[in-house]
Amino acid sequence: MVQYFKHNDGEYAQASPELLDASRLSRNWMDILMRIVKVMVLFIPTLVYEAVLFLAGMEKKSIKGQIALVTGGGNGLGRALCLQLAKEGCNVAVADIDFIAAENTAQQVREYGVRSLPLKVDVGVQQSVQQLKLDVEAKLGPVDILINNAGLLALLSLSEGTPEDVQRIIDVNLTSHFWTIRAFKDGMMERRRGHIMGVSSTFGIVAFGRAVCYSATKYGVRGLMEALNEEFYANGYANEIFTTCLYPGFVATRMELLEYLNQQGCRFPLQTPNTVAELAIEGLLRNRFEIITLPIYLRLAMKIYHIMPVGVTRLVGEIFSNNAPQP
Ligand SMILES: NC(=O)c1ccc[n+]([C@@H]2O[C@H](COP(=O)([O-])OP(=O)(O)OC[C@H]3O[C@@H](n4cnc5c(N)ncnc54)[C@H](O)[C@@H]3O)[C@@H](O)[C@H]2O)c1
Repeated sequence: MVQYFKHNDGEYAQASPELLDASRLSRNWMDILMRIVKVMVLFIPTLVYEAVLFLAGMEKKSIKGQIALVTGGGNGLGRALCLQLAKEGCNVAVADIDFIAAENTAQQVREYGVRSLPLKVDVGVQQSVQQLKLDVEAKLGPVDILINNAGLLALLSLSEGTPEDVQRIIDVNLTSHFWTIRAFKDGMMERRRGHIMGVSSTFGIVAFGRAVCYSATKYGVRGLMEALNEEFYANGYANEIFTTCLYPGFVATRMELLEYLNQQGCRFPLQTPNTVAELAIEGLLRNRFEIITLPIYLRLAMKIYHIMPVGVTRLVGEIFSNNAPQP
């Protein structure tokens, strides 16, 4: 394909009007009509088929003996995810920028009788991720389950932090997912088996004004995971390589985070890393496309959030935080 996204002086090619000629349009209308008829005919059978698949999905798959890689597995939610995978008999590569923490997690993982390997990586740096792939494949084997969990919990307003801080948050929270997925997806496609989980956040569904960069990266993870799922489907891997996007609410991990939430007067329910990890791995075993780890009433509220008038969403938001305009 022509690399039209690269912009050089004077090389812009204007789309020609012939591309929209009448006969082409009418051919498209016929095609669209046929597709509408197809949807009408197949709507009910497809709905029934999907319901059956959903119920079949109540049955959990086994990941015993498989190899998982968890980024940011040294602490917090990442560590809880590693231990939950180990409980299911899965071998775990623990990748973290904090090697001491990764070693601690790996030691705890081994207590479940599975293999574990601590690895030092900066997921925000592509070369570091390439080295990670070589190391994990040489020492543990090909990766079946990739969990992109590493993230910077940077609750900064747009005017706080340096330009370098902004770039770093984007690199670690979002760009890193591209590096790891590009590194491991080809192996999954060759073996026609794999599962990729991206850790977003409820801030990837409902944005928070005092975490502008963070929210933007978490919306990015959501878009990436949904597009990736579509790409596996379009390339014929729908029943072989699965994707899950995880949306935790607030999780009691870092002390600084809890102090900040208290300071902001946050009244949103808090979950433990273990609870979130249990829900995450439970959903992964059932090949769930998305997991929002909140109580049902909050999940429903999130689903309707974007169709509510903004005045209503702001009122509801005030139940959970003191984020109302300051005089
Ligand atoms: N804690 C929450 O309230 C919350 C809520 C929603 C989503 N999340 C998401 O869950 C994930 C984990 O959050 P957490 O609360 O456990 O965070 P945490 O800060 O407790 O742990 C993050 C881990 O990632 C590692 N890490 C950081 N930068 C790295 C890098 N460049 N390369 C490799 N490892 C790196 C850290 O060393 C640490 O071990 C993040 O993506 C976060 O955005 C957290």
